[in-house]
Amino acid sequence: MSHLAHVNLPLEGPCSELARALFPPGVVVCRKPADQRLVAELDEEELQLVVRAVDKRRWEFAAGRSAAKCGLEELGRAPTALLASAERDLRWPPGVVGSITHTEGFCGAAVGDGRSGLTAIGFDAERMRSLAPDVAKMVLSAGEEASWPSGVDRGIWAMLTFSAKESVYKCLFPLLRVQIGFEDVSLEFGGPNQGFSARVQPTGHQATVVFGRCATSNDHLFTSCFLRTSRGGLHPPDSVALGG
Ligand SMILES: CC(C)(COP(=O)(O)OP(=O)(O)OC[C@H]1O[C@@H](n2cnc3c(N)ncnc32)[C@H](O)[C@@H]1OP(=O)(O)O)[C@@H](O)C(=O)NCCC(=O)NCCS
Repeated sequence: MSHLAHVNLPLEGPCSELARALFPPGVVVCRKPADQRLVAELDEEELQLVVRAVDKRRWEFAAGRSAAKCGLEELGRAPTALLASAERDLRWPPGVVGSITHTEGFCGAAVGDGRSGLTAIGFDAERMRSLAPDVAKMVLSAGEEASWPSGVDRGIWAMLTFSAKESVYKCLFPLLRVQIGFEDVSLEFGGPNQGFSARVQPTGHQATVVFGRCATSNDHLFTSCFLRTSRGGLHPPDSVALGG
């Protein structure tokens, strides 16, 4: 994946190289370790969300919340309890956009405020490894299969595509509140900043287009998706018009 931005990551705290690679200015990315220590920092209401979960889930949840609060602090905001809807998307403070991801070896959050000019963001991390072929079949369209770049491992390419679609989902679901399947998202890679465009059209809804970027570290693939706030509201191609 030599054509993707390669970033160095700290073990904990703000990840400035990753934020620059994935997002416009005004978005910070923070990383936290998934261990028992951070569970003690959870707010009582946050803890209730994972009180019956297995340790791994509780530790990852705590790391994600801690990373999100680190992001809020980096933006000069007070850290606050971050609760979620029944569909698990977070209720961010007013004027804040954010997204959390956890995978083996990386838990982090991307958080932005009005300075980013963004209405919504998605952020996803995956281990740098091949996506299982049966999963790849569900994730990639024929067009995406055909656009596989030469010199890139096919399984890793599938994982990158999977991650990009996860980022698209995380970005759009909180705004649209409709289920979006892998088959509803068509990706086209290329262009500036190792980016992609995603045409999203859930069944029965109007299409919209959002944008994202990709980066790698030694062990992980990262993707973002973001929706810019346009003058006077949202309009194509960054539009949200899935109302039916
Ligand atoms: C949300 C989803 C995309 C990723 O979740 P995951 O596999 O647990 O992966 P990650 O760890 O990277 O992300 C989890 C975080 O995403 C966020 N998230 C969960 N559901 C969300 C939603 N509906 N909308 C936005 N963000 C969401 C949460 O912050 C969650 O962490 P938390 O529960 O600790 O707060 C996936 O689980 C899901 O719901 N998929 C169904 C839809 C889908 O996959 N469609 C195909 C892609 S287009």
